[in-house]
Amino acid sequence: MTNDIVIDVRDYNLYYGDFHALLDVNLSIKKKSVTAIIGPSGCGKSTLLRGLNRMNDLIDQVRVTGEIFIEGKPIYAEKRDLVELRKKVGMVFQRPNPFPLSVYENVAFGLRLHSHLSKEEVAQKVEESLKAVALWKELKDKLKAPALRLSGEQQQRLCIARLAAMSADIFLMDEPCSALDPVATQHIEELIRVLKEDYTIVIVTHNMAQAARVSDETAYFYLGKLIEMGPTDQIFTRPARKETEDYITGRFG
Ligand SMILES: Nc1ncnc2c1ncn2[C@@H]1O[C@H](COP(=O)(O)OP(=O)(O)OP(=O)(O)O)[C@@H](O)[C@H]1O
Ligand SMILES: [Mg+2]
Repeated sequence: MTNDIVIDVRDYNLYYGDFHALLDVNLSIKKKSVTAIIGPSGCGKSTLLRGLNRMNDLIDQVRVTGEIFIEGKPIYAEKRDLVELRKKVGMVFQRPNPFPLSVYENVAFGLRLHSHLSKEEVAQKVEESLKAVALWKELKDKLKAPALRLSGEQQQRLCIARLAAMSADIFLMDEPCSALDPVATQHIEELIRVLKEDYTIVIVTHNMAQAARVSDETAYFYLGKLIEMGPTDQIFTRPARKETEDYITGRFG
């Protein structure tokens, strides 16, 4: 394993009760890159994403075999600290889900809960995190405003800032633009391109043009199996597998 690999999924199977949702998945994700996960509805994209920070553990009757290594460490190891794991590997959802608190508190809340930073240090972190998602200029005079009054795009940025403040360096994004209009979508795509200088991003998207625009690598899933993964331009122009070609050319899915 070379050290530019940050996520390594090995022989990973996931069952919801009797239903075998992911079948023998093997894939590697490079540090500071954007990986798109594509495939028709129900193929297991969200399931895989939730596996990467063990959020599936919260669902009843989930059983897993195989292993996922994050920076070389097995996440299913017995003594793995899940709070730490989920701080490091943060999830961004379809619908932005800021807390019903002020802009400032959305970022500061977790910091106070999980760290021993002084008031000044918290303020510093809040500023850095809002800068990382290009919200600082827009919101520095509105830090006390309720987050729920922000636009959808701003809320989504704020949710990313909240993760960045907690020192996440892997962002899992499950259709992060599906509740946004085309202009906001374009802005979030720009943000993703900026973020990958410092962060590793795994994005699930139904929008193939989006996958082609933002990602370095693309993984195509069908019925719980990884059919093909490779450099995005190759997957979209010269896929190795017929199934992938049928999907990306819109012949099904
Ligand atoms: N909590 C659950 N309990 C039982 N089955 C589930 C659960 N969540 C998902 N599944 C099933 O697992 C399969 C994969 O679901 P998943 O949500 O991962 O697909 P997806 O690729 O994200 O689909 P979509 O594009 O519609 O979001 C589907 O057949 C789904 O019905
Ligand atoms: Mg999904």
